[in-house]
Amino acid sequence: MKILVTGASGFIGKKLVQYLLDKNMSVRVISRRLESLDNFEHKNLEKVRADAQKYEEVRDALKGIDIAYYLIHSMEGKSKDWKKFAEIDKRIAKNFADASTECGVKRIIYVGGLVSVPDKEMSKHMSSRKEVGDILKTSKAKTTILRASVILGKGGGGFEMMRYLVERLPVMICPKWVLTRLQPIYIDDVVEYLYECLNYKETEARTFDIGGPDVLEYREMMKEYGRMNNKSIIMIIIPFLSLRFTSYWVDLVTPIKASLARPLVEGLKNESIITEKSIMGLIPIKLKGVEESLKLSVYEDDKLEFTNRENYLSYLVMVLGIIGILHFFVDQRLMMFLPITGTLSIIWLSIIGAGYYFIKKKARLGSLLAGIAGWSSALFWLVDSMYLISYLPQIGPYPISKGITILGNYPDVNTSILNIIGLCVIAILLVIAHFTFYDKELYTKQL
Ligand SMILES: NC(=O)c1ccc[n+]([C@@H]2O[C@H](COP(=O)([O-])OP(=O)(O)OC[C@H]3O[C@@H](n4cnc5c(N)ncnc54)[C@H](OP(=O)(O)O)[C@@H]3O)[C@@H](O)[C@H]2O)c1
Repeated sequence: MKILVTGASGFIGKKLVQYLLDKNMSVRVISRRLESLDNFEHKNLEKVRADAQKYEEVRDALKGIDIAYYLIHSMEGKSKDWKKFAEIDKRIAKNFADASTECGVKRIIYVGGLVSVPDKEMSKHMSSRKEVGDILKTSKAKTTILRASVILGKGGGGFEMMRYLVERLPVMICPKWVLTRLQPIYIDDVVEYLYECLNYKETEARTFDIGGPDVLEYREMMKEYGRMNNKSIIMIIIPFLSLRFTSYWVDLVTPIKASLARPLVEGLKNESIITEKSIMGLIPIKLKGVEESLKLSVYEDDKLEFTNRENYLSYLVMVLGIIGILHFFVDQRLMMFLPITGTLSIIWLSIIGAGYYFIKKKARLGSLLAGIAGWSSALFWLVDSMYLISYLPQIGPYPISKGITILGNYPDVNTSILNIIGLCVIAILLVIAHFTFYDKELYTKQL
């Protein structure tokens, strides 16, 4: 029996290929980038470079194949293009179904998304996953569909999004989808189901729901993961937080890019609990509960490695904060005690603190906050140094004798030196923050 695994470089594919090879099966794998399959070496393994958007390449990959696992998911590129993913997924599924028919493939086995709501209430992402299954069924190959909720395990999109949010945010402002109930399943159990489908003919041409033994809300899963990592999290639910805002927020805090975060978050709008349990009777597996699955997925040796650029950025943010505080001492900042200016100072210092925290957590938000701190300081210094171009005897009710910096007295030598050092720090900080923020690979390679 010759098996094809598509999506072999992906979360499920990687594990499945290893499992099949351990069972001494003959496996062909495809990827658009063969280097992403470098980890696999086995006498029974054949690697083929193929882009499933190109019919001829899929057809060539399917020649001589008896059973094909369909684990392709195209969620990459720019976040604004995320709607196009569904179109691409449709095209790829059609290519695959037609090529399977042409090559005489006997079976296709596909992992789709599990939702327990009527079709018309499905999120766009979940509709797209269902549509892919429907298209695969048009093939002459007998198609088995396993519908899964969030799959727990290191490297899974849904799991990684949750773990980074928990590990990086002690206080979370959450949309109401954290109240959605789901039935997660551990990755090894999914792989076992996928393998056992080969042994049970009764699974041919059928759709099954697969899930672990526990049903819980997304926020309970987050809290459970936090508890295991000795992190207590405070969650504040704001019902009107938009999908767009949430996915950009996930993009800023975690290594999950917005293009992937959007469908992941959108998918969580729908409850995903198994309603069809027949697979449990057919393939008896000792399924792992959420606690055990999370324990197996906890990162123990998760040491962050920083580039020089990130290290410099963290130092510069600190220096900027120190310069800002020094101004209180070398300058007479009497107006800092007024409510508005005092509040602004506290906000500025909080941005500096949060920026430093998120840079050290390796979150993109760190470089964004560093940039905001830099630009707001530059603006302040510009306004504060207006004495260079104007002589103001009075501002509002405040009588001034010589000139004025907006929040204090005419600057002396110490203040001017601090200003010059501050401006140099700001200039370098802004350049580094810019390049760090836009270096998305720096963040996504953590996954
Ligand atoms: N992860 C979960 O929690 C979860 C939950 C429920 C259901 N599922 C379903 O399980 C399936 C697999 O998910 P996953 O998380 O393992 O996916 P994944 O890690 O995102 O991997 C996606 C795979 O698709 C391949 N791919 C994308 N476009 C391709 C193209 N044009 N030609 C060839 N290959 C292409 C990629 O291969 P290359 O980049 O190497 O070409 C990659 O290996 C999906 O249908 C997903 O909906 C996943």
